[in-house]
Amino acid sequence: MTEKIPGGVTMEKLVSLSQRRGFIFQSSEIYGGLSSCWDYGPLGVELKRNVKQAWWRAVVQGRDDMVGLDASILMHPQTWAASGHLEQFTDPLVECKSCHQRFRPDQVLVGPVYAQDKGFLGYASGVNKEEYDKSWQELLNKNPKRGGTASRMFRAELQEPKTLHDFLDKKSEIPCPFCNAIGQFTDPRLFNLMFKTFMGPTEEEANVVYLRPETAQGIFVNFQNVLNTTRRRLPFGIAQLGKAFRNEISTGNFIFRSREFEQMEIEYFVRPETADKWFDYWVEERRNWYLNLGIREDNLRLRPHGEEELAHYARKCYDIDYNFPMGWSELEGVANRGDYDLAQHARHSGKEMTYFDEDSGEHIIPYIIEPSAGVDRSVLAFLCDAYDEEIAQGELRVVLHLHPSLAPYKVAVLPLSKKENLAKAAREVYADLRQCWMVHYDDTQSIGRRYRRQDEVGTPYCVTVDFQSLEDSQVTIRERDSMNQIRVPIATLKETLTAKLAGEDLFVLPEGGKIWKEEGK
Ligand code: GAP
Repeated sequence: MTEKIPGGVTMEKLVSLSQRRGFIFQSSEIYGGLSSCWDYGPLGVELKRNVKQAWWRAVVQGRDDMVGLDASILMHPQTWAASGHLEQFTDPLVECKSCHQRFRPDQVLVGPVYAQDKGFLGYASGVNKEEYDKSWQELLNKNPKRGGTASRMFRAELQEPKTLHDFLDKKSEIPCPFCNAIGQFTDPRLFNLMFKTFMGPTEEEANVVYLRPETAQGIFVNFQNVLNTTRRRLPFGIAQLGKAFRNEISTGNFIFRSREFEQMEIEYFVRPETADKWFDYWVEERRNWYLNLGIREDNLRLRPHGEEELAHYARKCYDIDYNFPMGWSELEGVANRGDYDLAQHARHSGKEMTYFDEDSGEHIIPYIIEPSAGVDRSVLAFLCDAYDEEIAQGELRVVLHLHPSLAPYKVAVLPLSKKENLAKAAREVYADLRQCWMVHYDDTQSIGRRYRRQDEVGTPYCVTVDFQSLEDSQVTIRERDSMNQIRVPIATLKETLTAKLAGEDLFVLPEGGKIWKEEGK
């Protein structure tokens, strides 16, 4: 019998589990860590790869209207002039003239305060955490996007006369959160969030290139290449997975918002008059992707953007929000980008960015529907959703109910003892199963502890090899969620696990290869 402990998941618990079990570590930890950059450990890399693979399967492999792309991270600087990022991708910052740290002006008013290169510094002077949490909650209720990514929202808020006036009114009294100098702030200026670097040996303005802040632009600039080489007809899509970089000012909430992250983006090209239909289609399709991978329906919501919130390129946008421990926040955005991007790149490059419609004999600029998801945010949402604490047999059991296709290890092989003959049989089972899946072998400590360790990292099945196995060539499969155990022949272990991992409650008997349901067998 198990008893669920209510209110289980918190960000602290996830961070601790991730560190303890090797999912996610702080980047460059031995040097004190690099703020808002994260390293995926042995289990994290498997989970992350599985998330990406599930996405690629769903949006590329499983469809005949989509192709993939892997564009370079560094792109011609003109790309960012055309896309609008050079002008629009900014956050307002003020600089302390004494210590030269930069802050967001709304944060030095109400906190929490993040310095551009020092990370979280604490709460603004005179503001305690309770007051801050209250005002933050009020802001979130008023405008949930505030907890999300879009820097343009912060700008919109700052440009609200009240916030800006508040800052300018109080500027002479506000202490610097870093060096405590009073009244030393400059007026707010917009700073670009793109990371700059130099191409070639000389560090001069003419050689500046940017690390891409979104993967999407790699797709737009390759539109004609893909069209010419694949002879696609509308509607069709191009999907890309890859790193993106943003010099975010306020980072935090673990991997929710970092400076280096991965995106999974689709640019779906359609006839303009069909854009609304395809927009609705992709919102539903992407929402279902999360549900099919086990995210609880109660924890997902769709949030349309208001006019004032739309990005400069978007005609319409919905966020797919997840109910993270810190509140509802954006997991994925689906936008109707209209013809903005292709038209902009045509204008800036002087190249044709149209599609020839054979039916009408016309060249048209397709509209683009863009479902844009974060890999790291998806990983976080899957971890949050899967995390559970229960009392089982009088003990605390932490379990990740990860969907089998996402679980880092599908199976753990656990010999009951380290005795040589048993270890040999268990190693044979292990070697055989490894041909199909990521499988873990563990022969340390009691079997109960080993089950708990596998529960905590979300392994759906444990296979126990005991002394009886040497007699009858059978092993025990123990299920993570129900903790039920069944005995199966080694000869059909692979088929049984294949069926179970695919969600079928079956196991396979050797006689005639028949498949039997466990109940009513
Ligand atoms: N091409 C459109 C675009 O980039 P976005 O809303 O800025 O739109 C899309 O980003 C997704 O990328 C977000 O929904 C989020 O999942 C992820 N994302 C954006 N900024 C992020 C950051 N700093 N850290 C982690 N994930 C981020």
